[in-house]
Amino acid sequence: MGICLSRNTSSSPADNQSSFTNTDRLSSGISQGNNTTTSSSGSSSNVSGNSGFSAASGGSETEAYPNGQILPHSNLRIFSFAELKSATRNFRNDTVLGEGGFGKVYKGWLQDDKSTPIAVKKLNSESMQGFQEWQSEVNFLGRLSHPNLVKLLGYCLEDRELLLVYEFMQKGSLENHLFGRGSAVQPLPWDIRLKISIGAARGLAFLHESESLIYRDFKASNILLDTSYNAKISDFGLAKLGPSESKSHVTTRVMGTYGYAAPEYVATGHLYVKSDVYGFGVVLVEMLTGLRALDTSRPAGQHTLADWIKPHLSDRRKLKHMMDSRLEGRYPSKASVQIAQLALTCLEPEPKNRPSMKVVVETLERIASVNEKARQPVPRISKINPQRPGNFRHAQQHQYHRSALHPRNGGGHQLPSYPLPQRVS
Ligand SMILES: Nc1ncnc2c1ncn2[C@@H]1O[C@H](COP(=O)(O)OP(=O)(O)OP(=O)(O)O)[C@@H](O)[C@H]1O
Ligand SMILES: [Mg+2]
Repeated sequence: MGICLSRNTSSSPADNQSSFTNTDRLSSGISQGNNTTTSSSGSSSNVSGNSGFSAASGGSETEAYPNGQILPHSNLRIFSFAELKSATRNFRNDTVLGEGGFGKVYKGWLQDDKSTPIAVKKLNSESMQGFQEWQSEVNFLGRLSHPNLVKLLGYCLEDRELLLVYEFMQKGSLENHLFGRGSAVQPLPWDIRLKISIGAARGLAFLHESESLIYRDFKASNILLDTSYNAKISDFGLAKLGPSESKSHVTTRVMGTYGYAAPEYVATGHLYVKSDVYGFGVVLVEMLTGLRALDTSRPAGQHTLADWIKPHLSDRRKLKHMMDSRLEGRYPSKASVQIAQLALTCLEPEPKNRPSMKVVVETLERIASVNEKARQPVPRISKINPQRPGNFRHAQQHQYHRSALHPRNGGGHQLPSYPLPQRVS
């Protein structure tokens, strides 16, 4: 798994509380026994002034703040281990939602609210790896509130047990939908893919604009979906504060996930805000093609999707051949070309040549609105009775083109369902 850790792992998590100063420079702290986590960064008001995101004094309803807000302190609940054990029926196997690099994620129900499920991420207690990530998640996500960021409800820190409790996302991860197998996994239609990319882009733009936060691990498995396919970014374990205004990047140990991590970061450890934009470009391409960011079972030269795909993105005919066969040709050709062009700019080798996430959001919204307009019913004046209500015709249907089913790797999607992510270390 190769997760980098620079901390001393000899002491228990409780002992480590005194060293809760975040190594990633967000000056927040957690105190056990107090039911809030606190921030001393004092940056909220600046953020409000600079970015247009409101720093609120209380309330965490993302609905009330569609553009997001930075809370002066988080309202995280501290759960006892016993409470979470009971919520997940003793972490029973049939409650497992998935497994990542740091441990399993379980579905559960709390005693005090049986109607609302929760997701409980339990970090592997043997190794204590992931402590820093756990800490970052609490510090960062605990204070950020946005409709496109998953809601962290609370945490548990008891003996060697580290757990995080999130809102439950009914439709799981984008990764499951793009690459999962079985009858439960329905291919995502074009419009949903567009909606997901806009949601995820808004979430990332919020992080960049609000506190110049570099997310560092943008990938399909970290984009979670609610019942209406609203996308929410999860996992802030690797998030890092971006450079000060006079600097272009921060230099840091290389962490993230192969296939998504930006080339400059992997090569030099120089991390830019725009390094996230590269990861976003990779996810856009995954959505277009239905191919994984990294797949070593593909022929040589095709392992890394971004490197392999670039020449195909700028060529309309090649792109058509590469589109996800599970779309069955049901997508507007023009929009697919526009998104491919956008992806190409996100994948520019030079960070400065990549668009900001704000521009990415605007571009995607524009593409979606044209799509939407083309679907609007256009009023038609009837020759027989112009006054007659309801006499409409629908705008001309999209000229969807059907892409040839292109065999890949000897025939379609033959990848294992959920391989563990390959992280950069
Ligand atoms: N809040 C949630 N609601 C519903 N399902 C979730 C939630 N959080 C995680 N999951 C499920 O658990 C899986 C594992 O998540 P996790 O973040 O631990 O690993 P990952 O994203 O696959 O890899 P990594 O460890 O690199 O982040 C997700 O892919 C998703 O299917
Ligand atoms: Mg994850």
